[in-house]
Amino acid sequence: MRILVNERGAERLLSRHLWVFRRDVLSGPDTPGLFPVYWGKRFLALALYNPHTDLSVRAYRFRPGDPIEALLENLDRALARRQAALATEPEGGFRLVHAEGDFLPGLVVDYYAGHVVVQATAHAWEGLLPQVAERLRPLARSVLAKNDAKARELEGLPLYVRPLWGEPPAQAVVREGGVRYLVDLQGGQKTGAFLDQRDNRILMERFSGERALDVFSYAGGFGLHLALGFKEVISVDSSREALKRAEENARLNGLSLKTLEANAFDHLRQLEKAGERFDLIVLDPPAFAKGKKDLERAYRAYKEVNLRAIKLLKEGGLLATASCSHHLSEPLFYQMLAEAAADAHRTLRVLERRGQGWDHPVLLNHPETHYLKFALLEVL
Ligand SMILES: C[S@@+](CC[C@H](N)C(=O)[O-])C[C@H]1O[C@@H](n2cnc3c(N)ncnc32)[C@H](O)[C@@H]1O
Repeated sequence: MRILVNERGAERLLSRHLWVFRRDVLSGPDTPGLFPVYWGKRFLALALYNPHTDLSVRAYRFRPGDPIEALLENLDRALARRQAALATEPEGGFRLVHAEGDFLPGLVVDYYAGHVVVQATAHAWEGLLPQVAERLRPLARSVLAKNDAKARELEGLPLYVRPLWGEPPAQAVVREGGVRYLVDLQGGQKTGAFLDQRDNRILMERFSGERALDVFSYAGGFGLHLALGFKEVISVDSSREALKRAEENARLNGLSLKTLEANAFDHLRQLEKAGERFDLIVLDPPAFAKGKKDLERAYRAYKEVNLRAIKLLKEGGLLATASCSHHLSEPLFYQMLAEAAADAHRTLRVLERRGQGWDHPVLLNHPETHYLKFALLEVL
């Protein structure tokens, strides 16, 4: 059984993009699975396939071979690449599998101090999860399938959270730079934490001062590192659950963190009205642009929060700002920041241009894998 694609689909795979949409599939099996993709008689790739979704074909290898063996080989490679990090920081948090970035489309595997969380959002993985868990066993004390992501519904998959191996605890304690934090393995957002920002969070330990503001803080991620060097740190998030965890995390580290449950847009406006000023502000919003059609509205939202933050900074203050939406490209992200600076009548200087950590690899010819932009800017 094979998948036949049209010329447009073939061009995508020949350019080393991994995706072909259903409209470019000429014929294929009736059920989801792993299949070779052809353009006429020409072999193009091995791919995960689901005839029932728009994103039907997700390639993982550009040469022929046994489909299951090839996929599991990719998994072995991804795990081997993280071995050194696991050996040096067994109590740390790392991404072991970054979906398309590791040629394992639709599969995310995160490591939290010995406990592993798996999230599969492509149909073909469902029957392979026991084999995935088997490969993860030597690295982990437990393996949890946190298959509760909404994206699974589009694939016709059920939502559930259940152990694949061992007894996953309710939470794990992860060491990150100079702090430790609790991860809610079963009930947290995503797989429990946002590992893509780990190196950017640790960067915060280089700075000190009077007041820092961590907006869209989740469980205190950036704020904990800031609390090592700043006298006052305020964490703002709209999720009460996340802030409860931020407070627990502060206690765990013997640090002081003020938490505030609020809509970031409203709160930044209030701070401005009250004439408050900060030495450092972190902005780590959720993806405002979930699809291409949202881009214009999302651009305005990113610009608004950045503009407000820029106005709140003291002279010489630092803005650590991010966007995790791949629809907002890197050039657009910097354009948005430049416009926000101009509208605030302030001059900004870039100290660091960063992105997602090394364990979230980016495929050059599959731009969707480059989603996180992070800039550290100084207000002059
Ligand atoms: C990308 S996560 C932040 C991750 C965090 N900085 C870390 O390093 O762990 C985005 C956060 O924004 C929060 N959020 C979403 N919309 C919000 C809003 N309008 N106002 C405040 N917080 C919001 C979510 O609850 C979530 O915790």
